[in-house]
Amino acid sequence: MGENSISGDPVFYVDCDPGIDDALALIYLIKCHADLRGIGAVAGNVAVDQAAENARRWLALTGRPDIPVAVGRQEPMTGEFWGGAQWIHGPNGFAGLDLPPSQTPTDHMAAAERLVATAHEIGSRLHIIALGPLTNIAVALAIDETLPETVGAITIMGGAHLVPGNVSPHAEANIFADPVAASQVFSAPWRNLTLVPLDITNNHSLSRADVDLLQTASTDPAVQLAATMLAYYLDRHPEFDHSKCLLHDPLAAAIALGSVSLNESPSCTISVETDGEHRGRTLVTFDEDASPDTSASRHRIALSATADFGPLLMSALLPNAQTLREPDAQIISLPSCP
Ligand code: BDR
Ligand code: CA
Repeated sequence: MGENSISGDPVFYVDCDPGIDDALALIYLIKCHADLRGIGAVAGNVAVDQAAENARRWLALTGRPDIPVAVGRQEPMTGEFWGGAQWIHGPNGFAGLDLPPSQTPTDHMAAAERLVATAHEIGSRLHIIALGPLTNIAVALAIDETLPETVGAITIMGGAHLVPGNVSPHAEANIFADPVAASQVFSAPWRNLTLVPLDITNNHSLSRADVDLLQTASTDPAVQLAATMLAYYLDRHPEFDHSKCLLHDPLAAAIALGSVSLNESPSCTISVETDGEHRGRTLVTFDEDASPDTSASRHRIALSATADFGPLLMSALLPNAQTLREPDAQIISLPSCP
C-alpha cells in the first residue's frame, strides 16, 4: 500500500477541520472504498463544533453516516483559537451552504480518547491522516505516550519548507493554528510519519474547467455539492488568478492511501517555532545535515509526487465521465484509487 507499508489491510482514522478541502479528502477516501473507521473534529478552519457538524453532515451526504465523528479540542495547547479561515472556506467552512442534517449522533467519546481507543483496537494497521491543526493528536499523545509505536503510520498535511506560508510569510495554517501541538507531534517517535507540506500541495490543483465538469456531469448530489463548494474556493484563490484551487488535504489522503507515490520524500527531523514573528514555521533538518548524536525522531517530508493528483481525483469523482470532457478538464483513464 504505497510507501507507508503496514502489514495487513490498512484502516484509516482522519482528524480534520472541515473545511472544503477536508470534505474533498473525505469523499476521495470514501469513493476509493478506504476502510475509514472514525473521524475526529478539531478547531481549525472553523470552531470545533462547526467542524464536527460539517463532518457529520458531509458523511451523511456521501452515504457513510455510519462513520462516527468525535468532537475534539476547541482551544490549542496554549493560547486561544486563532479564529479560523472563513475567508477561504466560507462562514460555516462549507461555502455558507446549508447541508441536510445527519441523523447520526456524535461519538460519545472525545476525539483524542477515540483515537487512542481505535489505536489499541486496530494496532499497526491503523493509519492516522491529520488534516487540521494537530491539537487532538497532541492530546492523544498526552493520554497515551505509546500511541506512536502502536499505530502503523501518520500522514500530516501541514507546514512549508522552502515555499512561503499561506497565513504568514513563514507559516502554513494547520501548524500556525497550534504550533505547540505540532512541535509535540513532530518530537514523538512515530514508526512512520509523513509530512505533506505546501511545497508539494501547491503543485496539485483542480481548474475551473474541472469544477464545471464536476457540476454538470455528475449525478451524485455529494459531488455536485463538492463542485459548488469548490467554485467558492476557487474564487478565494487570488494568488492563481482564480484559475486553480489547491488540493492540500485530498493530496495528503491520496499519499496515505497509496494512490499517489512520492519520488522525493527525504528522511528528516522536523521542528516548529512556537512563538514570535516566525510562529508556526516548520524547520526541517535532513539526515545528512544532522549531527550524528541527535536523538530527534526521524520522519519524512513529501516534496514531489510521481504524478499529478488532479486528474486522479477527477476520475474518482466522475468514474464514468472519460468521454464527457469539458475543454481543458483533467480526466484520465488510469486507476484513480490504489
Ligand atoms: C490547510 O489549511 C486548511 O485551511 C486546509 O483545510 C488545509 O488543511 C492548508 O494550509
Ligand atoms: Ca484541513
